[in-house]
Amino acid sequence: MKRIVLCAALMMALYSCSEPKKNSLQQEEGLAKKYEQNFKIGTIFAQPQIEGVDKLSIDIVKKHFNALTAENCMKGEVVQPEQGRFDFSLGDKVVDFARHNNMYMVGHVLVWHSQPPKWIFTDSQGNRVSRDTLIERMKNHITTVVKHFKGKVDAWDVVNEAFEDDGSYRKSPYFEIIGEDFINLAFKFAHEADPEVKLILNDYNVCKPQKCDAIIAKIKELRSSGLQVDYAGMQMHCTMDFPSKNEIETTLKKFEDNNIKLQITEFDLTSIPFPMGNTAEISARADYQEKYDPYKNGLDDDSRAKINSRFKEIFDSFLSHSQNIERVTVWGITDKGSWRLDWPIPGRTDFPTFFYSDGKMKEFLME
Ligand code: G3I
Repeated sequence: MKRIVLCAALMMALYSCSEPKKNSLQQEEGLAKKYEQNFKIGTIFAQPQIEGVDKLSIDIVKKHFNALTAENCMKGEVVQPEQGRFDFSLGDKVVDFARHNNMYMVGHVLVWHSQPPKWIFTDSQGNRVSRDTLIERMKNHITTVVKHFKGKVDAWDVVNEAFEDDGSYRKSPYFEIIGEDFINLAFKFAHEADPEVKLILNDYNVCKPQKCDAIIAKIKELRSSGLQVDYAGMQMHCTMDFPSKNEIETTLKKFEDNNIKLQITEFDLTSIPFPMGNTAEISARADYQEKYDPYKNGLDDDSRAKINSRFKEIFDSFLSHSQNIERVTVWGITDKGSWRLDWPIPGRTDFPTFFYSDGKMKEFLME
């Protein structure tokens, strides 16, 4: 904590002084170029970019990023809204943009308890389907989606958020109906559909030790049974104090020690108060209260420095372990489009991405 305060003081001196910072679009070298020896620098595409209406963020993507993930439009409920009816119209546009701009394309996501194909767990009477039926449906979904994007997607988030923070399996319908080998089956089906594509087991709060250990154990088990798992995906939805520098370092080292390569899949940093602890659990919600929205009128120098200092602390850990990290993706192009503004409390001001809402780059990246 002392370190953060010291760093913050230093950065404050640096960032609050006279020289106005260059606008990101005036920076000569993009981030992807700057970090090309370390890892790919990724971001996400959502509706405003797909429709071409958010020109500022599209320019930022073209200039600074060399990896792209579809934020929502490759999720189960979008690509297979009804059984047997697939809709790839939005996903195709994201993939086309990535190809056109020579970017590493990440498919997100094949199996996730949130936003699955809505019909997938139940029969026409609303009863839960049998194990065999769900396996068949999951296989069909994975096979159709992966084959559709074959040769255009470089890596898939195959299974997302399968573990609780204590390392136990999340009691999702996939787990309850199929059992823990729904993960094994998902990886098998994805590999069969495209033997070339890289496969990721993705989760949040990976810096929680028991969760980290469970993910490592699962990847080893999958590999020892002959299945392909190329990366662990660490989402890294961070707060100002979690995970700590020490927790990040320990976690990154554990993966190195176990020969598991990493992708940082959804990095962002919230700096506003969080009413319900450290989680990225999408079902969490709270009502708006002013005390939870401290920056609604803007950011003072002190807070700006602290946010940049914390960003730098985390990013420096990625850099110092970059030999084991393929990609660092930030979950949002500018602060304006971040999911953090609407979750778990709608309508707040936050600074979670690499670029402020006006397109200016966060200062920690300008050093
Ligand atoms: O598309 C509808 C729109 O028709 C409707 O008018 C509007 C009203 O609320 O909702 C729109 O859907 C929203 C969707 O984002 C697109 O904007 C959903 O309500 C909203 O729940 C959804 O949130 C997304 C969330 O995943 C759930 O799918 C966030 O944008 C997205 O950033 C977030 O991303 C997840 C990763 O996939 C997995 N890891 C955690 C991460 C953050 O929660």
